[in-house]
Amino acid sequence: MAEQAIQTRQSVSQLRCIGCGKSALADRFRCERCRDLLEIIYPGWQDEGSHGLNAGSLRKLWRDRRASLDSRDQSGVWRFREILPEISAQQVITLREGNTPVYELPRCAKSAGMKQLFAKHQGMNPTGSFKDTGMTVAASFARQAGYKWVACASTGNTSASMAAYAARGGLRSLVLIPDGKISWSKLSQSLDYGALTCQLKTDFDGCVRVLNEVVQRMPVYLLNSVNPYRVEGQKTVAFELLEQFGWDSPDHIIVPGGNLANSSAIGKAMREMKQLGLISKLPRISVIQAKGANPFIRTVREKGGKDLVPVHAETMASAIRIGSPASWKKAVRVIQETDGTVEDVSETEIAIAKSEVGADGIGCEPASAVTLAGLKKLVKREFVKPGESVVLILTGHVLKDSEFTLKFHRGDLFSGTPDEREATSSRPHQRAPVVLDPSVSAVIELLRSAEQ
Ligand code: F0G
Repeated sequence: MAEQAIQTRQSVSQLRCIGCGKSALADRFRCERCRDLLEIIYPGWQDEGSHGLNAGSLRKLWRDRRASLDSRDQSGVWRFREILPEISAQQVITLREGNTPVYELPRCAKSAGMKQLFAKHQGMNPTGSFKDTGMTVAASFARQAGYKWVACASTGNTSASMAAYAARGGLRSLVLIPDGKISWSKLSQSLDYGALTCQLKTDFDGCVRVLNEVVQRMPVYLLNSVNPYRVEGQKTVAFELLEQFGWDSPDHIIVPGGNLANSSAIGKAMREMKQLGLISKLPRISVIQAKGANPFIRTVREKGGKDLVPVHAETMASAIRIGSPASWKKAVRVIQETDGTVEDVSETEIAIAKSEVGADGIGCEPASAVTLAGLKKLVKREFVKPGESVVLILTGHVLKDSEFTLKFHRGDLFSGTPDEREATSSRPHQRAPVVLDPSVSAVIELLRSAEQ
């Protein structure tokens, strides 16, 4: 199939309101009529069947690009550029994001009561989180549109990613983060990559409110996940996953929920893959939140997905400490379309699950571990059957929050918190370092006792 014929069809994208369907200009975030969020659509796909945008040629083209030396082909995002909005090759800012591994998790499978379990590890992206896949597209768009400044409010990963891509693309970046409520590693990334970093004395939701005002008054391009180009980039994780599964859909995909852009993006990808004939069956997509930051779970359970139930968010999984998620409507649609479900998990359940992902030799940050903790509950509810295929989306690298990890294993993560009593059940999972005299016999004695 002629590659040229496919590539020329990359550009047919439009912005459309998810509420009233009105189309919007390329650099807007909300509908000017009803204020709902926007999404990118590709009207040209409908009549492309006879011209080459067919499943077989796309699969082959995307696989062949893996052997190419072109920087876009080496990116796990731009390799799929036929399903992305067009950005000219010279404007693309890429750190060779995507191309993340799928791992099998045998110990976690056992602990969840599953025969087999897989994880797609998005923490293996260049800045250590899934944010890079969306950021490469949105930052490139910002550069193409001529912006000098980009900005985001963040719980730490978006800011780290944005700062890196802005720096690579010669843009300045402004970061608003909640003071004292994000991990040191994430804050340090933003500083190192050169962002103008502001710690505001509020939470994530407060940072969003301030930033929304700032971008209306200054020529600064917003790179929060309401940005529809970010969602397009984040979509590619699902294309890549299905490629890794030989285009045979797993039964379930389990995603952590914060601002709900990731679940929305993965759902959009599934819808589009079905439309393009790349897959025949939609996997069920389920969203897990921390009990202390569960607006989406409450929205679905208490309001049938019709109205948002905002909460005051509190969880040690600081990446998903979000009380008023922007993309909740898009995520409701995903749950409904794919027959998925929602679940929330306690702080202790998160900490135990995180240590189990670690014990499988993979590791992840706390927000990612909600997926395993949630899966255990979904198996108990019999929503997931032990023989079904399940993929956990692990969103952040284990080194993103080493303070959490150290405190957990040393046994002081929950000291003085309301969860102290429940957390005693996590003791068998703690693997504290042992301080010894520098003596051979002491080490050997310890080794022997560990073998028993
Ligand atoms: N996991 C991690 C590691 C995250 O950093 C986030 C969100 C999520 C899950 C939730 O994804 O918002 O798309 O539902 N972090 C954002 C940030 C909010 O600013 O870094 P979501």
